[in-house]
Amino acid sequence: MARYRDKIAGRVLMSPADSIAPEHVIAYDHIKGPEVTAFPPSALDGFREEYRVFYSNLYGGFWVFTRFEDIRAILQDPDSFGQHAGGLPHNPYPKIHIPLMLNPPEHGVYRKVMTPIFSPRMIAKLEPLIRDVMRAQVRKIAPLGRCDFVDDFCMISPSTMYCGLLGIDPSNFEEFNRLSLALIFGAADTFEREGEEAARKLRQDTSQQIDDILKDVLDDRRKNRGDDLLSILLDGEVYDRKLTDDEMLNIASLLFFAGTDSTAAIMSYAFLFLAQNPEYQKQLAGNPSIFPAATQELIRYNGFHQIRREARRDVEIAGVTIPKGDIILLPMGAANHDPAKFADPLTVSFERGNAGGAMTFSAGPHRCIGQHLATLQLRIALEEVTAVIPDYRLDPDQPYELMTSHAKAVLRHLPMVWTPVDV
Ligand code: HEM
Repeated sequence: MARYRDKIAGRVLMSPADSIAPEHVIAYDHIKGPEVTAFPPSALDGFREEYRVFYSNLYGGFWVFTRFEDIRAILQDPDSFGQHAGGLPHNPYPKIHIPLMLNPPEHGVYRKVMTPIFSPRMIAKLEPLIRDVMRAQVRKIAPLGRCDFVDDFCMISPSTMYCGLLGIDPSNFEEFNRLSLALIFGAADTFEREGEEAARKLRQDTSQQIDDILKDVLDDRRKNRGDDLLSILLDGEVYDRKLTDDEMLNIASLLFFAGTDSTAAIMSYAFLFLAQNPEYQKQLAGNPSIFPAATQELIRYNGFHQIRREARRDVEIAGVTIPKGDIILLPMGAANHDPAKFADPLTVSFERGNAGGAMTFSAGPHRCIGQHLATLQLRIALEEVTAVIPDYRLDPDQPYELMTSHAKAVLRHLPMVWTPVDV
């Protein structure tokens, strides 16, 4: 095998296959690499100019694209680039999540059934619930003058929102929160303490508990239809038939997996930025009209998902030929920080005109179906925190903690302090 030296980090590289030109090969670690753990959305900032695309020879090998237009083109071409049903490193998924892991045309059939769940009317119905829960939580933490913003604030609204989608009592949010924490953080802790098998078992047990709750709600909705996600699925049809119970549970559980930690993550990153940059807190204070634009910009700047695709045929793109079956990593942060799309991308500007065009929620047929719900939650979070807590900053005695995976980056703890406020 030939050996090469990465021009950026000076790492010694090895070419994985003769067909890949040596100048395209880098030992890039998308999970634990120093570029990722420093600030995940900026991981590819130092690579983009020199490498429009490169091949990482780690984790079995995968292609990485670094520019907005290439990433968008790939996401919009599902006939050439299909879903990859496994992690990176490869780890076949025990079940195919609907509709996320389906390719067109099957994907569109299921996505259509889900569309009414996220209609503007449904989102408007959830808004008061989301606002109430955030307002109550801000009032609870404000007098304390300190808290872990992840556990005590950012994790709470997504679970409550899920209760709202299911049409069950919002007080169940604590149970979902527990399950969400077990899935995201518990599994990682268990992995480190007890190894892969124990972590897999924890994930399976947690998923089973979610399915058990969903089964009870489904049984109830069969008798008492409501204006909620499972009622919509019970009435939906695919291929001229009703959805099976397994399909409904699969879709409903994906909404839990996809909607909770991603929303909590983007929220906690937004507050991390604001805590580190008090001048932006001042821009928000007393300026209600700025919140929609600030929300879009913080979503652009902090977006991180790393989406995977698999070449469905040999494809020529960006000067390389990607062989059928090869895996491709599309880092949304790389797209969002591309100066060809967003001028001065590393500067957060609430006056940026095109932040709404960011790639945080992907593009093409799989574009996030919960985008508007997630955006609404972040805007309300910014409004409610800004209204009550004036001068929050990072706790100088306790560092924040980050967790990265092949797909996501979440803040595990975000200890913050402020002048206690009586409300
Ligand atoms: C800030 C929060 C969120 C982010 C950053 C995010 C990000 C994403 C991304 C990048 C994808 C595309 C994956 C791909 O192309 O393979 C996606 C898909 C999806 N998201 Fe989100 N998401 C968020 C919140 C939510 C919420 C709140 C829900 C629902 C309650 C949700 C449900 C879904 C579903 C069901 C899909 C699959 C769509 C499909 O395959 O057609 N997401 N999300």
